[in-house]
Formats: sequence, structure tokens, C-alpha cells
Amino acid sequence: MRGKLIVFEGVEGCGKTTQIERSRLWLQDRGKAPVVVTREPGGTELGVALRHLLLAEQQHPIFPRAELLLYAADRAQHIEETIEPHLSQGAIVLCDRYTDSTVAYQGYGRGLSLELIERLNRIATSGTMSDLTLWLDVEVEIGLARAKARGKIDRFEQTELDFHRRVQQGYKELAQKYPHRIVRIDASRSEVEVQAQIQEICDRRGIGHRA
Ligand SMILES: Nc1ncnc2c1ncn2[C@@H]1O[C@H](COP(=O)(O)OP(=O)(O)O)[C@@H](O)[C@H]1O
Ligand SMILES: [Mg+2]
Repeated sequence: MRGKLIVFEGVEGCGKTTQIERSRLWLQDRGKAPVVVTREPGGTELGVALRHLLLAEQQHPIFPRAELLLYAADRAQHIEETIEPHLSQGAIVLCDRYTDSTVAYQGYGRGLSLELIERLNRIATSGTMSDLTLWLDVEVEIGLARAKARGKIDRFEQTELDFHRRVQQGYKELAQKYPHRIVRIDASRSEVEVQAQIQEICDRRGIGHRA
């Protein structure tokens, strides 16, 4: 049986990494399907190199269209090398960011054409969509404060507040547009409460049920 692609989305510091780890432990404990954790950018060897280029401070700024294409290259490699092989083996793939990040950051954040991004997402993924996207919704200021408290911040985390607000608006509109695929989680709650919401949704969708 084909596996499931579960994507974790949201602004910096919303708790994606934290909740992916908790979800991995919970799903593994249920023991139905192998659980694989991966991320974008950086889910492959090529992706790790691209991630470094994308998130490090650059002497010369990366132009938005170049940035968009680097993310697309990361995704194209990721889907072929990692995501699709695991899905066809029946795994539950937990992915930190995917196509909706590109819509939110490069589309709403940078102002690139949403139609262009959708086309590019289709090319990069060959049409593989997430089965479920968990949007960890938290106020931008809270997320950024968490990210700063966590330690060293990256190129995106340093961008101005308005950019992150546009990204947040992007997620909001995406969740309205795709209510079945994208589920909003109240990520302002404690780690345990956020995880409880995620488990409830997975249960309702039959993800990770014992055979
Ligand atoms: N629900 C929560 N409440 C308070 N702090 C949290 C919560 N979830 C995560 N954190 C902390 O906030 C920081 C950012 O979380 P992280 O999972 O790294 O976010 P992301 O991967 O989305 O950027 C980490 O230091 C983490 O321990
Ligand atoms: Mg993270």
C-alpha cells in the first residue's frame, strides 16, 4: 500500500521541527508503517548543498527568481531520491516544508507570480501532493521570538517583519483554498497540546492506525 506524505508548515519558530520529532515517536510507537523524517530544503545530498546556499548569509543577495529555482531544484531531487521511493514502500513520510512554503514565501512573501509558482511546483513534484499538510499557526512575533531564543538565526529569520506577515497571510489563504488538504493547528499552545491536536487529526484521517 502506498504511504502517506504529511507536511509540516508555518512561519519560523512555529514548532515544525519540535512537532515532527514528537509525531515521529508517536507514529513509530504505533508501529504500523515505517516513519521517515525529511525536510526541504536539504532532504538529499544535493539538497544539503542547496540549503546551505539558500539559508546562509550571502555577500551578493539571491534574486527572488533565482531563489525560486533553487527551491524547485531541491524539490525535484527530493521527490525522486527520497519521497517517492519511501511512499511507494508504504512509509509515512514526515516532511518539514514542501510546496506550500514556496507559495507562502516566494509568492506572498517575495511577490512572485502565484501562477508561475504553481506551475513550477507541479514540474518539481511531478504532481505528488501532500496527503495532509499541518499548518502550525502562530503569530509571527511569537514564532520569531521562539526562533531567536533557539539560537543563531538564518537569512529568512533576519528578514523584516512585514515579509513574515505576508508569508503568514499566504498560509491563511492556502488553508482556506484547500480545506481538506491543509489543516490549521493552533500552535500558540504548549508543545504537548499542539501534539495532541496533531494526533487527533491523524487519528481522524486513519494515519498510523494499527492494521
Ligand atoms: N508550543 C511551543 N511553545 C513554546 N515553545 C516552543 C513550542 N514549540 C516549539 N518551541 C520552541 O520554539 C523554538 C522553535 O521551535 P522549532 O520546532 O525549532 O520551530 P520551527 O522548526 O518551526 O522553526 C524551539 O526552541 C522550541 O523548543
Ligand atoms: Mg525547524
